[in-house]
Amino acid sequence: MTETTAKITLGDKSVESPILSGTVGPDVVDIRKFYGQTGAFTYDPGFTSTASCESKLTYIDGDEGVLLHRGYPIGELAEHSSFMEVAYLLLNGELPSADELTRFDNTITRHTMVHEQLATFYRGFRRDAHPMAILCGVVGALSAFYHDSTDINDPHQRMIASHRLIAKMPTIAAMAYKYSVGQPFVYPRNDLGYTHNFLRMTFGVPAEEYQVDPAVVRALDRIFILHADHEQNASTSTVRLAGSSGANPFACIAAGIACLWGPAHGGANEAALNMLREIGRPERIPEYIARAKDKDDPFRLMGFGHRVYKNYDPRATVMQKTVREVFAALQVNDPMFDVALQLEEMALNDDYFIEKKLFPNVDFYSGVILSAIGFPTTMFTVLFALARTVGWVAQWNEMISDPAQKIGRPRQLYTGPVQRSYVPVEKR
Ligand code: ACO
Repeated sequence: MTETTAKITLGDKSVESPILSGTVGPDVVDIRKFYGQTGAFTYDPGFTSTASCESKLTYIDGDEGVLLHRGYPIGELAEHSSFMEVAYLLLNGELPSADELTRFDNTITRHTMVHEQLATFYRGFRRDAHPMAILCGVVGALSAFYHDSTDINDPHQRMIASHRLIAKMPTIAAMAYKYSVGQPFVYPRNDLGYTHNFLRMTFGVPAEEYQVDPAVVRALDRIFILHADHEQNASTSTVRLAGSSGANPFACIAAGIACLWGPAHGGANEAALNMLREIGRPERIPEYIARAKDKDDPFRLMGFGHRVYKNYDPRATVMQKTVREVFAALQVNDPMFDVALQLEEMALNDDYFIEKKLFPNVDFYSGVILSAIGFPTTMFTVLFALARTVGWVAQWNEMISDPAQKIGRPRQLYTGPVQRSYVPVEKR
């Protein structure tokens, strides 16, 4: 990193803060000593201008619609790579050789089973529990089962915990689904690939052999690639913040899952499909566009807009193509896809959306595909969590290995009452 300085003046005080440059992307002003030098904090709710860490994993240029993992464009990875390969890349920094990939794949495969007692844990949930609620609880509980991989200061234990989380997430997610539909849990099979295994554990039943079109396996694998990591988004920052205190990895990933659940983040794919279904017919689109633009209506177009992308989300481009592939493989044609295509076209030609640079994001089309494959909407965010676990553990590992890492502890602009004396209840 090269260094120059930025001069910041507060009243009669002037401080020089170093400017750091990464390999690509905006420079950052290093304000770590700012409070000590000036007695003032910086104020940035929502972190719109604040870099919270240094990272080598993922780069986004939101204006140009670029997303790179370890330097590789997401479109190329989605086209040529597999989810396991992308997982290796994110965790280790380089694409694996054929041997490395086989070994990694084998390691992940051999960690897919969960402790048998975990199955009894599920029975404590109501059958109609949201699978994200189950996921939060069960993943958090993993730390009670895998004590030998919770020492965060041991790189070997960190790697085992990372492999366990990546490997067990499909099993845990499929079990959450099975529990909700009252079917028996399906154990993983080591002769199947990661995504095929997950589909079988979700939709297979012990009574018959599970058959799936390879195009569907490939499509879901690609969806996992598209969700694998996304820089310092809310859930990843949550994982980092939780991990900064030294919390164990299972607890940190559970925190990430909780954050991801919100409709402004991972919950948007569920909300987007629900919205398309509510719109129902192309004739009703203008009404919903008008509502999205109305300041007095809290309604927003779900799957539209992004904190970072002020251009087409490159993942949405791949997603739109994948819809067509899945429809062709399954010989279905969901009218919601036409509603989505027309809604996108109308919004992209509307001044409100043009001025605010609101484009479809990754969630806009994913629901249509996942629904065609057979997932209920409540599982959509679960699939997101499953895939994002790779990014979360890679970011968590990067943070713990960073010598500059310290507990995350933001400051605040206090606007509450100043000190006052306690008033006894009879005098209030
Ligand atoms: N529909 C209508 N108006 C919108 C939308 C939308 N989807 N998104 C943003 N806007 C408007 C806001 O009302 C705001 O208008 P204003 O400047 O007149 O007040 C302006 O665009 C900027 O929006 P902010 O909410 O300030 O932008 P922010 O960066 O904080 O939010 C977010 C980004 C949360 C993604 C937002 O665009 C949104 O709520 N989108 C819908 C939910 C969604 O799809 N989330 C998925 C995100 S991707 C992911 O997590 C995988």
